[in-house]
Formats: sequence, C-alpha cells, structure tokens
Amino acid sequence: MPDLYDIGLGNFDTETRQLANSDYVSFWENQAKKLVWFSPWDKTLDWNPPFAKWFVGGKINASYNALDVHQAQKSEKPAILWEGENGESRILTYKDLWIQVQKLANVLKSLGIKKGDRVTLYLPMIPELPISMLACSRIGATHSVIFSGFSASSIRDRIYDSKSKIVITADGGYRRGSVVKLKETVDDAIKDFDFVENTIVCKRTKTEITLTDKDKMWDDLMENVSEKCEAEPLDSLHPLYILYTSGTTGKPKGVLHGTGGYLTHLHSTFKWAFDIKNSDVFFCTADIGWVTGHSYVVYAPLLHGATEVMYEGAPDFPNPSRMWDIIQKYHVTIFYTTPTALRMFMKFGDALPNSFDLSSIRLLGTVGEPINPEVWRWYYRTIGKEKCPIVDTWWQTETGGMLISPLPGLETIPLKPGSGTRPIPGVSISVVDENGIDLPANTKGYLVIKNPWPGMLLTLWGDDKKYKDTYWSKYANFYYSGDYAIKDEDGYFWLLGRADDVLKVAGHRIGTAELESCIVSHHDVAESAVCGIPDEVKGEVIIAFVVLKENTQKSSELLEKELISKIRVDIGAIATPKQIYFVSKLPKTRSGKIMRRLLKAIASNDKIGDVSTLEDGAAVTEVQTAFEELQKSMKK
Ligand code: WTA
Repeated sequence: MPDLYDIGLGNFDTETRQLANSDYVSFWENQAKKLVWFSPWDKTLDWNPPFAKWFVGGKINASYNALDVHQAQKSEKPAILWEGENGESRILTYKDLWIQVQKLANVLKSLGIKKGDRVTLYLPMIPELPISMLACSRIGATHSVIFSGFSASSIRDRIYDSKSKIVITADGGYRRGSVVKLKETVDDAIKDFDFVENTIVCKRTKTEITLTDKDKMWDDLMENVSEKCEAEPLDSLHPLYILYTSGTTGKPKGVLHGTGGYLTHLHSTFKWAFDIKNSDVFFCTADIGWVTGHSYVVYAPLLHGATEVMYEGAPDFPNPSRMWDIIQKYHVTIFYTTPTALRMFMKFGDALPNSFDLSSIRLLGTVGEPINPEVWRWYYRTIGKEKCPIVDTWWQTETGGMLISPLPGLETIPLKPGSGTRPIPGVSISVVDENGIDLPANTKGYLVIKNPWPGMLLTLWGDDKKYKDTYWSKYANFYYSGDYAIKDEDGYFWLLGRADDVLKVAGHRIGTAELESCIVSHHDVAESAVCGIPDEVKGEVIIAFVVLKENTQKSSELLEKELISKIRVDIGAIATPKQIYFVSKLPKTRSGKIMRRLLKAIASNDKIGDVSTLEDGAAVTEVQTAFEELQKSMKK
C-alpha cells in the first residue's frame, strides 16, 4: 500500500494560505467575522508578549452563537443525539437545547450567580453537561468542568482554586454497567468550603443521596422558571472557562480560555478539518471533562448548527462493537476518536466492524497522542474503507483548538500515515533546537509556536507568573509546547510525544510530579520517581519507583495496595501505575537529578547503552553503577 493518501475534499485554496502567511492578523480578523458579534472590535490583536488580546472591544456570547443564531432555520434540527450506556437515548433539537439553557441560566441567576462568577461542573456525559456549560456562558459565568473520573481530593483542589459558588453534579453516572456515585464525592470534596453556596443535583441513576440545605434538585429548580433569558453581551476576552490540566510541576494548572478568539479558532478549524455540512452527523468520542470535549463536542459543532452524537459510557461496553453499533444506528458521517481507542478496536479484529454498516462515514479523525502508522492504515482500510481522509489533529488544552491537521474542508493534500501534515493557516509553527534555532528537515527538536493564535489560553487562572514560566521562559519569544517533533522534507510535522515530565496514558494527561508528591505523602515512603513506558494499547503506562523509609515493617504487597488506593483517592483511577517497584535508592546524577531515562529503560528492558549517553550531567560509569544497583534492589 502506498504511503501517500491523496484524498481531500476541498479545492486547494492557495489564497487562504497566502493571506494567512502574509498577514495572520487580518486573516484571523476575516475568520472572526463569520461569527455573530453584538458589537465589533476596535483592535484585532493587542500582542503584549506573552499576553494576546484578540478582538479587543468586541462583544460576543458563546451560547448565543451556539444556539440563538440557529433558531430561525434549524430550531427543529437535532443538535444532540444522546446515547446512554444502558441503551437509553434522547434527542435534543436546537430549540430544546436553547430552552433548557435559558431556563438553567435563569436558575443560576436566581441562585445569585453573576457575570464573572465561577461554576464547577462534575457531571457524567449527559446532555445536562453541555446545557450547564452553555447556561454559564450565556450569563457570563466562567465554567470549570471536572472530569467525572477524578477523586474528591482532586475536585477539592480545583474548586478551592476556582472559588466556585455553585457545583452542578448528578446523583451518579454509569460506567461499565456500574454506578459511580458523584454527589457523594462532591459532598466529601466541599465539606469545608463555605464559599460554595449551592449544589445542583441531576438525577441520572437510582442512587440514594442525602440532601443538605445547600443542595437543590435540578428538576425542581427547572420546573417553574422562565424560558427566556437574553444572552449577555460579553467582552471578547471574557473568561469562558477554566480547565485544569497536568503540567511538569505541582498541582494541575487552571488553563483559562477567553471567548471571541477561542470561538473564532473553533469555528474555523471545525470547518476546515471536518468539512462540516448541514447533513452531517458528527461523533466525537471524547469526554467533555477534557479539552477535546469542550472544543469539539460542545462549542465547535454547535457553532456550526451541526447534529452530533454524544455517548455516555465506555467505548467497549457492553461489548467491543459499541462504537460501530452507534455509527450504524445514527448514520454517523464524521468519526473523531483517539489512537488508544483505535488500538483497542484493532485488537478485536476486522470481523466486528465488518459486520456493521459503516458506509455513512465519509471522514475520520484522531487526537490526543501520536498515531502509529499501522494503526492509521487499519483505520483507513477497515473503518474508512479506503475512501475517507483521516485528520490527525495535534493540539493541547492550552491551544484551545487544532493547530496541526490535514484540512479536507479547505484543501487537498496527500496524507502520510502518522503525520498531522501541516499547521493550519494563520499559525507559525517550527521545530527548533535548545537555542530556538530552526532545525533542518528530519531533525528531532522541540515544537514551538511563533505567533499568537486566537484559541491561545489567556493565562493560568490567577497565576500570570506561572503562565510565563511554563510556556514562555524556555524561549523568550516562542510558545513552548513541551512536545518533540520532526518536520520532514515536505514540511509535514511528525509529533513524537512529550519532551517533559507529562505523561499521556490512554490519551489522558498526567503529571509525574503530581503523582510523585501523592506517593511520597504516604507515611512509609521516603522518595519516589514516576515515569511512563510504552504500551501497545494505551500508548504509555505509568511505572513508579519507590524508596521506603528505614524501619518500615509492612510487606511490599500491602504497601502496593495502600499506594494504589491512595492514588485513586488523591487523584483518580486514571493515574494508577501499572507497576510499582520498591528500590533501595533512586539513581541520581551528581547534581542530584533523578535519572529518569534510566528508570524508563530499566522498566521497559531497554539496553543500558542507549541511555548512558543521554542522562544530563552523569558519567557513563555512574549510570552503569546506578543501573546495576537498581536492578539488584528492584522488588515488585
Ligand atoms: C499530545 C489534547 C500526537 C501532545 C487535545 C500534546 C498529540 C498533548 C496529538 C496535549 C496528535 C495531542 N499527535 N500527539 N494528533 N494530539 N497530542 O492537553 O503530546 O490533553 O502536547 O490536549 O497531547 O494533551 P491535552
């Protein structure tokens, strides 16, 4: 099979590319005009590095652009085709969604929520989640969605940091047939927080819950409330949401996104990458708790008045055909998922997808991790039947939307399995060395972004300094992505994973520092180092090395159990290590830095020779000695 797939749907649009290259500010200004603004901006970009202000002075509302603008033509069109894990289904038209959002916006107002207040959402994948997000944005409240797999302790940190006045949750949610108790977890998280004034509880399961004075039931609140709530004209820079994500140090950081620039970025990229048409049925499998769900389940499809499928549960529940079943049932035309999901589906063999009618699909997408070329080819052949382009979209929580992707809705270019092809128009991306110098073709380096782009984060919530330090200090004038990449001779980008201590486990972002600090807070632990090693399905899995305090009497079996349960309680099940090794000491360089690459090599049975030259500041003999010592002392 050839390695180039010359499939595209659009006409090669050199004009768009040329304008974007010559004047990216005017280019984005033209894109912004495709949205509905209450008043125009005075200045397209105010760039005071590293703070970018897009469409300064313009007034806009996200909920208005997602809902009100469609009421004249599409009020009866389905917006969300919701499929519950247990087989239930619901259809919400653009009118239904509009009414629900306005009602909830009135409820929030009646509970004292004002423009600028924060509201935390801890909900399963049910329509009430997008309804809540849009109700917040309608009145200018900033939402903070927390993935419903996070623990009470993780929620506590996030609610404390954002000082949310209201938490919206559900009694429980379904996951692999069991009920996850969400309200109980919220109760635990907020028990000491007087600043949380109310909790709104949706009923999703039959789980028993205990109500306190602060708790209000969603259904009761929505009963006698007006269906009209005008969308608030908000500054383009008004904070639309905070989304906490893991970095290299400390606790998760609150990535803050604005309104006008973010919506412009989503509106453009959704059209270019997915070539969206009125007749499409879009299905993105991401959970709304992560950025892909925020951008490409909630905001982008609704800005375009598209119909989308939203699925509540695990992708392989109750059986590994669930996704194919949903695609067949709803005649999905565009399917957007992760390499981890694809690797899992691929393992189940071709017979399963082949036994479903997938002929409605015309375009495929992937996101979140590098996709192996053989998985790409499988996706292309078995799911796309060799007729659908695959958009491999590279981006981050911080970038708001896609930055590197094939764009079948804009231009036709040959695809190469495993490459996201080229940057979208209007952004300048390079692969550079340690000094910020552009590297020649096919040389591995760091991916940087040289100009501001509209979906760019505004800052980190309440911490401008950390924002500068994290993204704008390695290079003075470039945004540092934390990813390794290569640019090939055709100008195509190949993403090679993280260059820092952030892990990507099944596409989920996990910080090693966060995990290490959780492990060392265990009473019997003296020191710990965490790393990721390659995994056939999940891309990477977590391995932890632990040095115990002297005089610890407990068995390693018991300690392993305790540590795993601690991680689940402090962070959530997604951060559970695959293996914990108890060692007598951690290998360190003379300057005291943990030799992480050595740990990685040991855990994945690599050869010592491959790493001995890589470890900063360590002599070869030092690495060898550390390697031998570690191997000797390693006990599972
Ligand atoms: C990785 C997810 C290769 C990358 C949208 C990035 C990818 C991190 C791709 C951000 C891709 C995302 N190919 N790697 N197509 N998309 N990544 O914030 O390492 O959860 O830095 O955003 O995912 O993860 P985040």
